[in-house]
Amino acid sequence: MTRLRLDGRTALITGATGGIGTATAELFAREGARLVITDVAEEPLRALAHRIEARGAEVVAARLDVSSARDWDEVITAVRDRFAALDVLVNLAGIVDWPGVEDTREEAWDRVIAVNQKGTWLGMKAAMPLLRASGNASVINTSSVLGLVGSGAAAAYQASKGAVRLLSKTAAVEYAQRGVRVNSVHPGVITTPMIQDILDEQGDEQPDIRRTPMRRAGRADEVASAILFLACDDSSFVTGSELVVDGGLTAH
Ligand SMILES: NC(=O)c1ccc[n+]([C@@H]2O[C@H](COP(=O)([O-])OP(=O)(O)OC[C@H]3O[C@@H](n4cnc5c(N)ncnc54)[C@H](O)[C@@H]3O)[C@@H](O)[C@H]2O)c1
Repeated sequence: MTRLRLDGRTALITGATGGIGTATAELFAREGARLVITDVAEEPLRALAHRIEARGAEVVAARLDVSSARDWDEVITAVRDRFAALDVLVNLAGIVDWPGVEDTREEAWDRVIAVNQKGTWLGMKAAMPLLRASGNASVINTSSVLGLVGSGAAAAYQASKGAVRLLSKTAAVEYAQRGVRVNSVHPGVITTPMIQDILDEQGDEQPDIRRTPMRRAGRADEVASAILFLACDDSSFVTGSELVVDGGLTAH
C-alpha cells in the first residue's frame, strides 16, 4: 500500500474555502491529514467540512479572520484542546487590490497589509508553540509571482507579498534548529475566484497568460501539489526556499 504523505499529521489551513485553499484541504485529506480548516466565509466552510468529513477525514472548521490576533488565539486553543498537536500551517488567506501607487486608497492599503502580511505573521506567532512541540513541522506561506517581480500595479498587494517572502526566510532561519521548516509558495496566474472576473473577461488573451511560457493559467490543484510537497517529509531538507508555480512566467 502506498504511504499517505500526511498520515497522522494535523494541518491548519487559512483561506480554506478559496480556490487554492479548497484544493489543498481536499488533497491533504486524501493524504491522511487531520484538518483544521478556517476562513471568514462561514457557509462555504461548513460545506467544505461536510464534504471532507464524508470521505472519512477528521476535520474541524473554524471562523478565523487572519488579521485578528484574538481569532488566532481562539483557534489555536481549539486545536490544542482537540488534537493537542499541530504539524503543518498553511497560510493561504489573501485579498487583492489592483491599483498602483497613486490610486491605492489608504484603507485598501491597510486592509491588504493586515490580511496578507500581518495575518501571515500573526498565524506563525500564534501557531509556533504547537509547531515547535511537533518537532517536525512545516509552515507554508503564500506569496505570489507578485512577491518576486514588479508589475507596475497592485501596489499594496505586491508590498504585502514581497514581505511574506522575506518573513518566511527569516522565520526559516530562526526555527531551523527547532523543528519547524518555513517556505513560501509563489503562484502565477491561477484559475480561482480571486481572478475569475479577469479571466472571464480576457480568457487566454490576459497579458500575464500571454507572457506565461506554458501559455495557460494554472489550476488550483497544481498549487496544492506544491504545498503538499513543502508540507510533508519529501521536502525534509527544504527551508527558507521559494517555490514558484507559474508555468515559467518569472523565468524570463
Ligand atoms: N489565484 C491566483 O492567481 C494567485 C496568484 C498568486 C498568489 N495567490 C495567492 O493565493 C492565496 C489563495 O488565493 P486564491 O487564488 O485561492 O483566492 P480566493 O479568493 O479563491 O481565496 C482566498 C480566500 O481567503 C479568504 N479570506 C479573505 N480575507 C480573509 C481574512 N481576513 N481571514 C481569513 N480568510 C480570508 C477568502 O474568504 C477566500 O476563501 C492568496 O494568498 C492569493 O494572494 C493567488
